[in-house]
Amino acid sequence: MREDNQSSNMDFILLGVTGQQEQEDFFFILFLFIYPITLIGNLLIILAIRSDIRLHNPMYFLLANLSFVDICFSSVTLPKMLTNHLLDTKAISFEGCLTQMYFMIGMANIDSYILAAMAYDRAVAISRPLHYTTIMSPLFCVLLVVGSWVVGNANALPHTLLTAQLSFCGNQRVVNFYCDMASLFKLSCSEISFNVKMMYLGVGVFSLPLLCIIISYVRVFSTVLRVPSTKGVFKAFSTCGSHLTVVSLYYGTVMGMYFRPLTSYSLKDAVITVMYIAVTPMLNPFVYSLRNRDMKAALGKLFSKRISS
Ligand SMILES: *[C@@H]1O[C@H](CO)[C@@H](O)[C@H](O)[C@H]1NC(C)=O
Repeated sequence: MREDNQSSNMDFILLGVTGQQEQEDFFFILFLFIYPITLIGNLLIILAIRSDIRLHNPMYFLLANLSFVDICFSSVTLPKMLTNHLLDTKAISFEGCLTQMYFMIGMANIDSYILAAMAYDRAVAISRPLHYTTIMSPLFCVLLVVGSWVVGNANALPHTLLTAQLSFCGNQRVVNFYCDMASLFKLSCSEISFNVKMMYLGVGVFSLPLLCIIISYVRVFSTVLRVPSTKGVFKAFSTCGSHLTVVSLYYGTVMGMYFRPLTSYSLKDAVITVMYIAVTPMLNPFVYSLRNRDMKAALGKLFSKRISS
């Protein structure tokens, strides 16, 4: 594949997931499936929740918001990767690179905070059912969502501004398929120790909601176990189990990627990033709704309405 005959000197080069041609073709095909599934799956969830009045409650509003963020999240990197592969180029402008970085960090953080809000919502519903409607008031839900967007953008801005100041001395070959913060730091010929410290701080802010998620699920489990009914316990474990699997995949891969010395980064790490960039946004709608009877009914209604009209 051509690298820089067509690109200007200022352009960055995205080397890809592994940098090997056959493997790039494989990831191209993989993303060609994953991206539309992510878009359609999440869009269906939003439409189903909007169209069914029974789903107008905090849990589903948060789920619709998660779906919206997942659509944005995967749209930051995957379309660029797909079109670059089709156009047989690896170039991305520096502005494009910074934009990708800003929205990547922003959306990943918003996702993280909404996941925590959803776990908190379940903990309140199960451990304090009588106070549920007063605690999860419409105003509080809006605050949770707006708060997630504020934290996400506030976390993305400093990293992007700091990266914009870096010099690259002609090293513009990014060892990843999108402009990843750590990959850019490694290329820079400026002093980056402050950027790296800020990056660890940023990953800390990103991971904070994990604490809330763990506490929420512990509360769910301890409430369910206090009322021993085998069916209830089984249902709680199977539902929360699938949520926890996705959640640990998400935080595990992000923390595994960024909480370590910059010197240990290599091209292989891009494969890890595929997990949280492409796979979790695709899985979220399935994990959070397919095991749910109301959601399935709403989706069924959505389709029958479309067919009959
Ligand atoms: C996100 O949540 C807010 C507050 O609960 C809600 O009003 C809004 O409709 C939700 N967004 C989507 C896309 O459903």
